[in-house]
Amino acid sequence: MPPETTTDAVPASPVDEVAGADDVTTAPTLGGLTHAGAAADGAPAPTVFDVTDLSVLYSGFRAVRGVKLDVAKNDITAFIGPSGCGKTTVLRCFNRMNDLIDGAKVEGSLKFHGVDLYAKDVNPVEVRRRIGMVFQKPNPFPKSIFENVAYGPKLAGIRKKAELDEIVEQALRGSALWDEVKDRLGKSALGLSGGQQQRLCIARAIAVRPEVILMDEPCSALDPVATLRIEQLMQELKDEYTIIIVTHNMQQAARVSDRTAFFSVDVDATSGDRTGELVEYDRTEKIFSQPSDSRTEDYVTGRFG
Ligand SMILES: Nc1ncnc2c1ncn2[C@@H]1O[C@H](COP(=O)(O)OP(=O)(O)OP(=O)(O)O)[C@@H](O)[C@H]1O
Ligand SMILES: [Mg+2]
Repeated sequence: MPPETTTDAVPASPVDEVAGADDVTTAPTLGGLTHAGAAADGAPAPTVFDVTDLSVLYSGFRAVRGVKLDVAKNDITAFIGPSGCGKTTVLRCFNRMNDLIDGAKVEGSLKFHGVDLYAKDVNPVEVRRRIGMVFQKPNPFPKSIFENVAYGPKLAGIRKKAELDEIVEQALRGSALWDEVKDRLGKSALGLSGGQQQRLCIARAIAVRPEVILMDEPCSALDPVATLRIEQLMQELKDEYTIIIVTHNMQQAARVSDRTAFFSVDVDATSGDRTGELVEYDRTEKIFSQPSDSRTEDYVTGRFG
């Protein structure tokens, strides 16, 4: 298996059964990480992530600094900005994927339901099950459609065929792929179209019942029809999941997201060092109609980037 494929069908912890994640109000789990309960009717959505003064360094080079934002439950949050401003770097902080990169160091605070995700007693494998990831390029395993989706649940110790059948069907329905593949579940996932493969990767991510789905430019390899399908799917998924998406497509950010974070690159006049920074974070409507910072305005109106 290529290394990148291990991360969105993350090895779930054997002591935390996939089915057990259903009960979001009572499931205390590993390393002090617990789920927050759902919002009472009318109450503001709970904060899922609370990020303060986050910086990421690669072997001493500060790639991005000063990130402060919070993410509300069931929101879609978009990260936009020019190439190299640190969108992927920051996204990877949300499920500790930077742990897997030699020389990467995260500073500052990133809390998930009030718990420091980087605390010593937090299990990164559990973090990556709770917070799944879908990559830019669809990366199905060279296995059947069924096995792709059943992979994570099997790692979590689920063996009964009836149970796996149910999980696979639910995940494929959840990613709006079921009707297209229900008669060919035993066929290779590599025979699917690009858009279908990306929806399969989304099914694989949701099969382990995460709370959050991180998506790094999930539509950049897709045609406009498949892109629209994924955007519709995101709208459906947000009832159950909190989503953070990196996108270069500003129309996409404007169409799908509730809040948008605009990142830019600050170039040090003396050293020439390029450091990404969060310029502005607000409701998507405001970012695209009345941004507070002129750099945001230049970017969203196409004058820069
Ligand atoms: N694994 C890595 N090792 C060293 N430096 C890295 C690594 N990943 C990213 N960087 C550096 O960190 C900075 C931010 O990169 P990042 O990939 O987060 O940007 P991005 O906003 O996602 O760009 P793009 O829009 O091109 O995907 C860049 O200067 C990049 O070269
Ligand atoms: Mg990127």
